[in-house]
Amino acid sequence: MSQSNTGTFTLTDNASGESFELPVIPGSMGPSVIDVRKLYAQTGHFTYDPGFTSTGSCESGLTFIDGDIGMLLHRGYSIEDLAEKSDFMDVAHLLLYGELPTQKQKEKFVHDVTYHTMLHEQLAYFYRGFRRDAHPMAIMCGVVGGLSAFYHDSTDIQDEHQRMVASFRLLAKMPTIAAMAYKYSVGQPFNYPRNDLSYAENFLYMMFAVPAEEYVISPTVARAMDRILILHADHEQNASTSTVRLAGSSGANPFACIAAGVASLWGPAHGGANEAVLKMLEEIGHKDNIPEFIERAKDKDDPFRLMGFGHRVYKNYDPRAKVMQKSCHEVLAELNLDDPLLELAMELEKIALSDPYFVEKKLFPNVDFYSGIVLKALGFPTSMFTVLFAVARTVGWVAQWKEMIEEPGQKIGRPRQLYTGPTQRDYVALEKRS
Ligand code: SDX
Repeated sequence: MSQSNTGTFTLTDNASGESFELPVIPGSMGPSVIDVRKLYAQTGHFTYDPGFTSTGSCESGLTFIDGDIGMLLHRGYSIEDLAEKSDFMDVAHLLLYGELPTQKQKEKFVHDVTYHTMLHEQLAYFYRGFRRDAHPMAIMCGVVGGLSAFYHDSTDIQDEHQRMVASFRLLAKMPTIAAMAYKYSVGQPFNYPRNDLSYAENFLYMMFAVPAEEYVISPTVARAMDRILILHADHEQNASTSTVRLAGSSGANPFACIAAGVASLWGPAHGGANEAVLKMLEEIGHKDNIPEFIERAKDKDDPFRLMGFGHRVYKNYDPRAKVMQKSCHEVLAELNLDDPLLELAMELEKIALSDPYFVEKKLFPNVDFYSGIVLKALGFPTSMFTVLFAVARTVGWVAQWKEMIEEPGQKIGRPRQLYTGPTQRDYVALEKRS
């Protein structure tokens, strides 16, 4: 294959000597793409890319990542700026509508989100069907999928108004659903949302308030919560976002699509990693045990991986991990907490990043490495870490789903395969099978 200066790639079939011109489409930033949409019709061949390491699945203007330099932009704004200078409602508006809101736009946006935070009262009975010890992510999969049974009036994806209402319902109700999953698991009464609180404050209130006493919201904890929501809001075409897009491409309703995203996020290789990091640090226990775990992570015969390290795109430091580490120190200092797991995590990072295996494979800490320590400091149980990730990522899933649905000529996603199964053979009757 060769690239001409006319912005095309020429693909030559060495067997037949035939050549095929493939257009190159440039983006506004990052790699161009080779347009292979007509490849099968022209050549009778599919491309082959399990895991999509070299495949662009869509065009998007939401999030740009440069993994080599550790850059993450949302609609052109750096994650560092957004985490430092914005709040989650700013970022949610930016992802959904393409711009940071004006003061007036923000007041309306926050009002509209706030007035969708309550859940249909019947949904509270839905929780009672689960065992008390059910993992909160299992409850999230069930309850989020069940939303289309309660909000059927916002499931017609061809209706722009219904799409907008469903988007607000999902963004607004996920914290309520998540907090109820936690309360159910600890046997405490559900808290109704409060309209006088910010998005982050309301989530903390619904999570941790009890009827027996006034819940005082720490500004430090609320700011840290808001920042964690920003850091997890969207991340290009990751596994759960791609799941949401594929589900949505069939015309499935938005609640079903987001439930599919929740299910995909739960995996320990993806959003489940934050919970796995805490368990790993607790298993390591002491810095003297770090070398043993580093060796296990390098051993191909050992399934153990260093959770919170490595990333499909980042071959440098995940910029979110840097902000999260900074937040870690701030929260622990301001709450006057001393968590030995933080020291252990920093020692693990230092040793891993000086090990040739991790250096050669460019395995750096990712967003999940420090998030668990912050969440633990904020009072979240480990089982709620991925739930929080799902709460934050909902705005990214919804924005990506919205972008796909609004794309002219949007088609159902239907990949092909390399078939390596049996060739056609005659049927064998039961009595003749040996
Ligand atoms: C998230 O996609 C996203 O953007 C996701 C996310 C988001 O915001 O949506 O950023 C959130 O999911 C972050 C990642 C959280 N997951 C973990 O921390 C789990 C631990 N990490 C690994 O499972 C792994 O690094 C992945 C899954 C994150 C990435 O896997 P890839 O891109 O498929 O890379 P790979 O498995 O091919 O690894 C390349 C090499 C392999 O060695 P070789 O086969 O080439 O010899 O690096 C090794 C791997 O064995 N490797 C690790 C490792 N991660 C990769 N070795 C030890 N420990 C690790 N953590």
